[in-house]
Amino acid sequence: MTDTTLSIFGLGYVGSVSAACFAKLGHRVIGVDVESHKVEALCNGRSPVLEEGLADLMRQEHAAGRLDATDDPERAVMESDISLVCVGTPSSKNGSLDMTYLNRVCEQIGEAMAKKLALPDSYHVVVIRSTVLPGTVEQYLVPILERASGKKAGVDFGVAQNPEFLREGSAIDDFFEPPKTVIGATDRRAADCTKSIYQGIDAPMFITSIGVASIVKYADNAFHAVKVTFGNEIGRFCKEQNVDSHEVMRIFCEDRKLNISPSYLTPGFAFGGSCLPKDIRALLYGAKRVDLELPLMGSLLRSNEKQIRALIDELMVYRHEGVGILGLSFKSGTDDLRESPMVQVVEALLGKGAEVRIHDPYLKLSELVGSNLRYIMTEIPHIGNLLKESAQDVIRPSKAIVVGHNTEVFQQALQQTRDDQIVFDLVRIPEAESIEAKYVGLYW
Ligand SMILES: NC(=O)c1ccc[n+]([C@@H]2O[C@H](COP(=O)([O-])OP(=O)(O)OC[C@H]3O[C@@H](n4cnc5c(N)ncnc54)[C@H](O)[C@@H]3O)[C@@H](O)[C@H]2O)c1
Repeated sequence: MTDTTLSIFGLGYVGSVSAACFAKLGHRVIGVDVESHKVEALCNGRSPVLEEGLADLMRQEHAAGRLDATDDPERAVMESDISLVCVGTPSSKNGSLDMTYLNRVCEQIGEAMAKKLALPDSYHVVVIRSTVLPGTVEQYLVPILERASGKKAGVDFGVAQNPEFLREGSAIDDFFEPPKTVIGATDRRAADCTKSIYQGIDAPMFITSIGVASIVKYADNAFHAVKVTFGNEIGRFCKEQNVDSHEVMRIFCEDRKLNISPSYLTPGFAFGGSCLPKDIRALLYGAKRVDLELPLMGSLLRSNEKQIRALIDELMVYRHEGVGILGLSFKSGTDDLRESPMVQVVEALLGKGAEVRIHDPYLKLSELVGSNLRYIMTEIPHIGNLLKESAQDVIRPSKAIVVGHNTEVFQQALQQTRDDQIVFDLVRIPEAESIEAKYVGLYW
């Protein structure tokens, strides 16, 4: 049991499910909505929305005296410790979020906090559960709350972003068994207060910044959309080949090492090598032969090109002052240069007259043999000539240094950089803060 009282603003799907479930966890809950029939429903132990199991849970929690509702925001804030904001954030015509409801509810909570926080030893936390883009809470909602309350966020009251991960249809189960709980907050006290209302839920808990908390939700939903679309495009391709797509994807999902795993999900540089680009091109060609459009697959190489272009644009600025490349092959531990995106970067720089030096411990001209030596000598001889024997030979004369492989040798070598140099890190080397040069992480 707990003695926390929560006010929940917005009694739609998220708000209604949260109201009943937080009550079940032992909190006292006051629901608030601008629609009187929703307030009336909650006051009488009825659910304002249709959701599996919610009607029974509402009735039970109302009977236990833990659920109440009002259309008076001030009363709700005065009687509660924490306000959860669950109002809608629909799409505007141009795809932006319609902030009307959020702005209004923050004004109302802020005005009520002006009264509450005037009382001795009073405190309040506003938790945004609605899905909002990064920056929204800090740049728009906090100023509204501060203006309306006349108080300072992170000092007099707390603000947290606590995205909701439930799915309609299984919302109650998702509430009690969430994949995770993510809390971004203005300060420790606000984070701890928000964390405390989840006591009794056994799930990984992440306390982070407000920015991370808001993007995690978008990363989740974008990934889910990518998964559905990926499965569907594989399905369309399989169907054309008379192959059972479900069997393909069943086997695909059994691979927990590379497929259903954290592999390949860390932001960094473009993919390359002798397989990925070639096989994607072949898949797209196979689809085109049977007049099949696969827009997601078709976008992969284009997106990859953007990643390469972004690095080229960064480096062009330094082309006349010397660019040093640490790691030329498409990943560390190989001397395979076929379709290495770094080769593309070097070629673009050379095309604009840049001064480039390269070191890759797996690429020593004196030691190369067979097809790789042939590839360098025939396909990219101009690049072969730029290879240096040591990382220091590259670092010393370069203004900009690119770290393409995460190896201990490179980490050590970077300790020799100077403060007039700039390091572009594609692999997030550990202890980057100990480097003397200016440090730029692409893309974090
Ligand atoms: N529905 C989902 O499955 C789901 C899942 C995760 C996250 N979300 C996010 O949660 C948020 C809420 O979604 P929803 O589906 O519950 O929305 P909804 O449209 O069902 O409910 C929003 C409620 O807010 C009320 N409201 C508007 N202004 C108010 C005010 N000033 N004071 C009090 N109440 C007010 C509305 O009357 C409505 O009842 C959205 O940002 C959504 O993206 C939704």
